[in-house]
Amino acid sequence: MNVRTVCLFGAGGHARVVTDAARLSNWRVEGCWAPDAAEGLLHLGSDADLERTLDRWMEGHFHVAVGGLPGETLRRTILERWEPKALTWANIIHPTAWVSPRAHLGWGIYIGANAVVNAGARLGNHVLINTGAIVEHDCKLDEGVNLGPRAVVGGGVHAGPWSYLALGCCVRNHLSIGANAVVGMGAVVARDVEENTMVMGVPAKPVGSAVR
Ligand SMILES: CC(C)(COP(=O)(O)OP(=O)(O)OC[C@H]1O[C@@H](n2cnc3c(N)ncnc32)[C@H](O)[C@@H]1OP(=O)(O)O)[C@@H](O)C(=O)NCCC(=O)NCCS
Repeated sequence: MNVRTVCLFGAGGHARVVTDAARLSNWRVEGCWAPDAAEGLLHLGSDADLERTLDRWMEGHFHVAVGGLPGETLRRTILERWEPKALTWANIIHPTAWVSPRAHLGWGIYIGANAVVNAGARLGNHVLINTGAIVEHDCKLDEGVNLGPRAVVGGGVHAGPWSYLALGCCVRNHLSIGANAVVGMGAVVARDVEENTMVMGVPAKPVGSAVR
């Protein structure tokens, strides 16, 4: 069997989740690059160590396994540093996820256990689909979009770059979520959401800026 290798950026809870999914889907996880070691993960070293030894790792794949909360920018900061180095980014897809063969996937994507990505959906690079989230047909999720566990986006929704749709929210079909917007956990989104805006509640209403 052909075993592919992947190094993770990050050593927190999300990195452990990604490690499980990767191992179950035939990746060999070399370990993680992070400032500090973490329980249960092989710590390869810091960013500076990777910079020094990069040639040695270039044949394998990389994946940003940092989850983060709304408004946190660590995922983005890591990518700004490492995207220009022409690394090869792995899509890690848990074997219990359903991804339609008619969906279009960029690179560096994570799709968790029991998540669904239906026909015609387009996922940009480094999109993160957490456990049990549902991306209905023909949605377009731009780069870095984060769907929390059990978030649901109806058919034809467009989510702008780096928007964050938290735990269990629900977005009506064909709506648009602006870049960097945050949809709070449990919100029911019935109208478009402006960029950089945080919305909460049922129905979801703006509560302020999503940028901290
Ligand atoms: C959007 C979110 C980040 C807002 O968090 P926050 O800005 O830190 O807000 P706070 O927790 O300080 O709460 C501010 C107020 O809003 C309320 N509130 C927070 N989130 C709310 C929500 N989703 N819906 C309704 N009210 C909410 C709080 O009860 C609080 O009210 P109070 O001032 O009357 O006590 C948070 O709602 C959220 O969605 N967190 C989940 C993130 C997630 O998906 N994690 C999954 C990781 S795997």
